[in-house]
Amino acid sequence: VKSSGGNSTSHYGVKYGYGFLHEDINNSGDGGIYAELIQNRAFQYSDAYPVSTDHYYPINGAGLSIQFLGKPLSDALPASMRVNAANGTGAVGFENEGYWGMDVKQQKYTGSFWVKGAYDGSFTASLKSNLTDDVFGSVEIESKSVANDWTEHEFVLEPTEDAPNSNNTFAVTFDPAGTSNGTLDFNLISLFPPTYKDRKNGLRIDLAEALEGLNPSFLRFPGGNMLEGLTLGTEWDWKDTLGPLKNRPGFQGVWGYQQTHGLGIVEYLEWAEDMGLEIVVGCYAGLALDGNFTTPEELKPFIDDCLNEIEFIKGPADSEWGSRRAELGHPEPYKLDYVEVGNEDWLAGYPAGWESYKQYRFPMFYEALKAAHPEITVVGSAASSDPGGIDPITLELNNATDVVTYPEDVLGDYHPYREPDELVYEFDRFDNDYGHIIGEVAATHVNNGTRWEDGLYYFPWWIGSVGEAVSLIGYERNSDRIPGTFYAPVLRNMNRWQWAITILQFAADPALTTRSTSWYVWSLFAHHPITHTLPTNGGYGPVWWGAGVDEDRNGAKVWKGACYNTTDGADEAVSVRFEGVKRGQKATLTLLTNPGGDPYDYNDPLEGNNIVQSETQVLIADRKGSFHFNMPQLSVAVLDTDVE
Ligand code: AHR
Repeated sequence: VKSSGGNSTSHYGVKYGYGFLHEDINNSGDGGIYAELIQNRAFQYSDAYPVSTDHYYPINGAGLSIQFLGKPLSDALPASMRVNAANGTGAVGFENEGYWGMDVKQQKYTGSFWVKGAYDGSFTASLKSNLTDDVFGSVEIESKSVANDWTEHEFVLEPTEDAPNSNNTFAVTFDPAGTSNGTLDFNLISLFPPTYKDRKNGLRIDLAEALEGLNPSFLRFPGGNMLEGLTLGTEWDWKDTLGPLKNRPGFQGVWGYQQTHGLGIVEYLEWAEDMGLEIVVGCYAGLALDGNFTTPEELKPFIDDCLNEIEFIKGPADSEWGSRRAELGHPEPYKLDYVEVGNEDWLAGYPAGWESYKQYRFPMFYEALKAAHPEITVVGSAASSDPGGIDPITLELNNATDVVTYPEDVLGDYHPYREPDELVYEFDRFDNDYGHIIGEVAATHVNNGTRWEDGLYYFPWWIGSVGEAVSLIGYERNSDRIPGTFYAPVLRNMNRWQWAITILQFAADPALTTRSTSWYVWSLFAHHPITHTLPTNGGYGPVWWGAGVDEDRNGAKVWKGACYNTTDGADEAVSVRFEGVKRGQKATLTLLTNPGGDPYDYNDPLEGNNIVQSETQVLIADRKGSFHFNMPQLSVAVLDTDVE
């Protein structure tokens, strides 16, 4: 174990990285970053969520009902919606309310739907107001529909005006006179606005760009809890997410809603590719969230599945799974250096599942992964202080003999959801420890509050974000053993959520997309990367700090600091001297503050406010080569000698 804070070089071939975990929580995938506008597009269902026509409304008295036809659209999508023209006069159809509305602009929307039933006529697809009779755009689609088979109808819809708000719906109508009995069956009704980097089945632009604005380097997926499923047999199965949407059965998820499987493994890989992110892929390790777990005899198929998933991601295009990836349009292997075995196995299955993780589940995975892929860094889904998820202040209460020990080349995964004071307390948490990723971290609870009993705070808030900054510096100064830190979870749809603290909040209207106080802190740190830490001297508190150099930017020297002063309002005077820096050297100081002064202030999507003030100034080193500046109470700063 190396000592902290000085001369450490990443072992991992990448710069120290900031990133995030993404799983579908808070409708962050469906109804979130996955740009599909139609909710319940394919009438998917699971044990937890029965099939329904929810989110659809009849037009002109049509009857809408779920059917399980003898000839379904596909094995994956056995249910469909019958539209029955009860009165027979005038166009009938349905409208879909989207994920709590739809943003309608003068841009190209790409849509499709499948129909079964003879129809001689045309369909009208339109985007309209839910409040008035306004139709913002519509398109006629000639029917190709026949009696005994499913036919796909594709279209492009370009509204001629912007809708004034997002309370809009998408409608499809047809003339029942052209049908044989006034009835048509519909499935897989889909509508996409333009997407991030123009990907088919891609990401919502404003959310992707807000994440890109963090200057991230890592994406961890597909969970989180989502990886594991609520019960054995309901884990997120990457194979169910491959290929055309009609072959994706959907997933019951673990966060209270049916999911489409639209944001599948290929979409995650494209996301990473488009943002230039390293990936950490979680393999299901035989533990369900209800605490049930697999026996050693049952585990082998999951290990094989993990190896297949790795082959799908990075195998050559002529390998079994690599060729499947090539078929899907990406012959070049993706880069994959980190594979995590399970997720928080100490928590969901504690103590029995945890015991099984230590006794055989992790070792069996580890052996197989190392044998097949010695180049991959295996990540274990617990940290050196687990089990129990006890906060660091009370950690001593744990039974030390129950703490995880991994082989030397394994990284642990630490998930501190903490009070800001605790994050500050953790500044030196990794100074004498083995390697970890910080796979999920956020300030979630106010200091001295009731923690989980009363839920999380409303939004990331200023003192919480400054507390995060202190812990981020603590992780980064151990970058010889910590390749990166991941915020989690990142997205919260304000219309349906269960986890309040996310780095972004959003709704259907992109104008409501809100960068939280933490977004500003993480973005600042990530925009000033280092390749090595620098040896340091000086004390810590109330300013907590770290320093490094970026060889990729001509040896730019970087100082990152957070003033976590909760007791008095005085500024802290800071002097920074880098060895080798001479009088007259310039450096850019970026200082984040909350001029409002209330530590509990936050950025509220409903008010559209931003409490974080960011100021940048160029400082000049004095005759001793030192830079001098003041840090107000509760502030975050970066000093960087790479001055443009
Ligand atoms: O980020 C939310 C949840 O917190 C994750 O799914 C889980 O890994 C952790 O407990």
